[in-house]
Amino acid sequence: MMAFPKGFLWGGATAANQIEGAYNVDGKGLSIQDVLPRGVMAPPTQEPTPDNLKLEAIDFYHRYAEDIALFAEMGFKVFRFSIAWSRIFPRGDEEEPNEAGLAFYDRVLDELEKHGIEPLVTLSHYETPLALAREYGGWRNRKLIGFFERYAETVFRRYRGRVRYWLTFNEINSILHQPFLSGGIETPRAELTETELYQAIHHELVASGSVTRLAHEIDPENKVGCMVIGIPRYPLTPAPDDVYKALHETQLDIAFGDIHCRGAYPGYLLRHFREHGVELEITDADREAIAHTVDFVSFSYYMSACESADPAKQTKGAGNLMGGIPNPTLEASEWGWQIDPVGLRILLNLYWDRWQKPLFIVENGLGARDVLVDAPAGPTVHDDYRINYMRDHLVQVGEALADGVEILGYTSWGCIDLVSASTAQMSKRYGFIYVDRDDSGAGTFRRYPKDSFAWYRDVIASNGEALNSR
Ligand code: BG6
Repeated sequence: MMAFPKGFLWGGATAANQIEGAYNVDGKGLSIQDVLPRGVMAPPTQEPTPDNLKLEAIDFYHRYAEDIALFAEMGFKVFRFSIAWSRIFPRGDEEEPNEAGLAFYDRVLDELEKHGIEPLVTLSHYETPLALAREYGGWRNRKLIGFFERYAETVFRRYRGRVRYWLTFNEINSILHQPFLSGGIETPRAELTETELYQAIHHELVASGSVTRLAHEIDPENKVGCMVIGIPRYPLTPAPDDVYKALHETQLDIAFGDIHCRGAYPGYLLRHFREHGVELEITDADREAIAHTVDFVSFSYYMSACESADPAKQTKGAGNLMGGIPNPTLEASEWGWQIDPVGLRILLNLYWDRWQKPLFIVENGLGARDVLVDAPAGPTVHDDYRINYMRDHLVQVGEALADGVEILGYTSWGCIDLVSASTAQMSKRYGFIYVDRDDSGAGTFRRYPKDSFAWYRDVIASNGEALNSR
């Protein structure tokens, strides 16, 4: 029997650049997303181009009230969204914030409060202001720490008492693989030295620790979490070298969680630095900032991956930003993301045992091609594949709870259809709510609940008990 704790935070997750649109409205500056015409896999252009679906996204900027009302109809307890840094500080380096940008999130919070939905706010979801990337070199530049602190302090003060749960950097460990997206660094990954990359990572870690401290000072009720890509890495074979390789790759991912939870660099990473000639500039003030540990750990979970010590086996599967060898025992989505519900239980146990901090699953879901069909109650999508995916994953969350893992909540990714991060497609849909917009940008923007909408509503209303009836 599934037993979810009382007060479990059920809900959905989004990011500003994938839903808001209105990329140049009310004083907003450009962010790195506005110049990525075809998702993260494409090279950035100089200016926003008309084929960038994110420029209008799903127009949440103007339709937030209608969308939040739909989330309330599903019974959401929590809604995860990001604040677009470039709405608050259009270039990122100003002294004073943009009032119109702050006022927009006031309106969003008003609406959430009206429906009793708890906000969960990401400060930086792949949305570095473009000027910071172009003119400062992104997170390679230490100055970004100060700019980020000013931005964070501004929103902590403005929304004090209204937002309790904060996340610092979305999927912070993705910077290892996607320095532009994650760190606003235009130099291609292959041309960056390990020292340059880890110095940029260090700056983000210092910024994360520093704003965690600020959040606690401004309001002791604030709860701050780090956010990492969760990806269990399995050995491709039982050969000890493969097992060790899986462990080592896990360490490189998990180091970010270790630093956020333990407040210092772990020994295995220092060894990696020594052996790879990585020499970082780390000040005493940096060490002090990093020592401010988070209150909880949040993560995204979409897939697992395999690792092998044999260089000949190093194929990279299609998948999210982290790579890894495909698992021969698993099926995959149409986009090649391998589906592994048990991996979620493995990860929850691993993180809990390691850090003993409450966990929050803030992204999980199936990107699929949906077909809108006519039905007596109006157009809908029969998305039993999505229901099955989510049920299988939530059952594993229930198992982890029974294992004794402390879990704050679950926000499924893209609770309303949004523009994909990796491919910039509308047709890769995750939502309980269909948005009428296609990959060419055509459509009415109208919203239609899918079958999964009623299913999730029942799961929430029963606090997970509905998962027991398959
Ligand atoms: C995560 C990101 O990596 O995966 C989201 O935090 C993203 O921004 C999600 O949308 C799903 O990826 P995609 O490429 O299918 O949109």
